[in-house]
Amino acid sequence: MPRGLLITLEGLDGSGKTTQIKRLAAWMQKRGVAPVVTRQPGGTATGDRIRASLLDSRSAELAPMAEMAMMFADRAQAIAEVIQPALDTGKIVLCDRFTDSTEAYQGGGRALGSETVLELHRLICGDLQPDLTLLLLPSLEASLDRARRRNERATAQTGADEGRFEQEKDTFYRRVWEKYREIAAREPERVVLIEGDLSIDEVHEQIVEAVAMRLSSVSRPEFRAASFSGTAQV
Ligand code: TYD
Repeated sequence: MPRGLLITLEGLDGSGKTTQIKRLAAWMQKRGVAPVVTRQPGGTATGDRIRASLLDSRSAELAPMAEMAMMFADRAQAIAEVIQPALDTGKIVLCDRFTDSTEAYQGGGRALGSETVLELHRLICGDLQPDLTLLLLPSLEASLDRARRRNERATAQTGADEGRFEQEKDTFYRRVWEKYREIAAREPERVVLIEGDLSIDEVHEQIVEAVAMRLSSVSRPEFRAASFSGTAQV
């Protein structure tokens, strides 16, 4: 069985990844390739517990190195439990955030540097690389506004507190933003950058175009067949 495909979605908090990943999954399902959808941090029972500690505002004192180690612990578990088994059985995995997030947030935002992150990725994740990364970068202001409003709403409705990152200063997010752009410039083959304040439909169209192109370049007949349906909307 040929290996499946790992497709990751990346971007700032509030960039609309969650909406887009759902629409992309529906687009694929309609074309006969049901993807495995997962997210980081989280996506496994152990990962959900790590996620709760990482995102809770009460973890304010978490040291940057501890934060990075927890992101990698979560990822190692997700690779072992979900991602690698799915790839080994020829599936497409759609992953909401992966190591580019660690490079952008911990490497850039927390200023730990790219080298440490990439070295840990080699050691802990066996250097597993996405086949395609869709990087959503609307303007910094629009993303932050949306993320902070969303978090306030979630806390008011459910009492869940996942606001630790949203409480960071704009200078932190400026560094995350710049690191994401640096990654896109370094790896243009893998990373498709979708920039600007576009509508949900416009972003979806660009995503589908990039995915269709990637699917058409693999030898699996069912993936190629899915790509021929082009950019038609779900
Ligand atoms: P999440 O609610 O998943 O955010 P979003 O829906 O915007 O993707 O929260 C994940 C948070 O964790 C987000 O602020 C980014 C951060 N993060 C890191 O700092 N490093 C990482 O490696 C990952 C995967 C996420």
